[in-house]
Amino acid sequence: MSMSPSLNQTVIPAMTVQPSDSRPPAPASPDIAQARLKGMRGKRGVVGDSLHWLGVRLGIAYNGSFYYPSEDRSILECLIFPYYQLSREHQRIVFVGTAWYTHGYTRMFSRKIYTTVDPNPANAAYGAEQHIVDVVGNLERHIAPGSVDTIFLNGVVGWGLNARDEAETAFAACYRCLRKGGHFLIGWNDLPEHRPFRIEEVESLGKFQRLVFPPLAASEYLIDNEWRHTFSFFCK
Ligand SMILES: C[S@@+](CC[C@H](N)C(=O)[O-])C[C@H]1O[C@@H](n2cnc3c(N)ncnc32)[C@H](O)[C@@H]1O
Repeated sequence: MSMSPSLNQTVIPAMTVQPSDSRPPAPASPDIAQARLKGMRGKRGVVGDSLHWLGVRLGIAYNGSFYYPSEDRSILECLIFPYYQLSREHQRIVFVGTAWYTHGYTRMFSRKIYTTVDPNPANAAYGAEQHIVDVVGNLERHIAPGSVDTIFLNGVVGWGLNARDEAETAFAACYRCLRKGGHFLIGWNDLPEHRPFRIEEVESLGKFQRLVFPPLAASEYLIDNEWRHTFSFFCK
């Protein structure tokens, strides 16, 4: 029987397919383990820390299938990431800042050239095979100028990248590593304790143009939850 699509079907040609022998091994269990670790904020003690590390180890064992259950994370993982997963123009992806709940992103971007960056060596466990232990401001020491299609800088400003001069260096390094037309996403919390400066005050960001991100039809998108997480989209 013919498998040709009918006239009103949209056919999306397959992207580059890896040879079967180079595919990553299947996870040990077909079940997706989900950790609904609620109320993380401000509830860490000795017991909390032990549970946290137990969760981390299980996450690694289950191929990074733990996730952080918040609305902003759902928008990142279910709406923003798929756009890049399916885009032919975005093959080289850099994700800055790794944590237990970002380990699964390696699998999400397994059909891309996916690199992660974090200065804390302990966080390499949640990163890509191509993981860089360094601050994002030193990106050019590891990545060729003009070679990257997309950089995600989510949850880093106000979470370690707290000094404006460090942000100047970091945004400038991202600009140089991106190719012309490359995308730069900054995810930040619009809360006094995680907003050490306004990103628009950082001069090196002025080299970028604002990008209206098609799936959200916005260049800035605030999720009005307890984190007031905001996605700001830029283009080189
Ligand atoms: C809240 S955590 C996880 C952020 C993760 N990208 C996300 O989507 O939530 C912040 C991470 O940023 C890393 N970080 C802090 N300052 C950094 C810098 N200057 N360059 C790169 N990573 C940095 C920290 O080590 C930490 O792992």
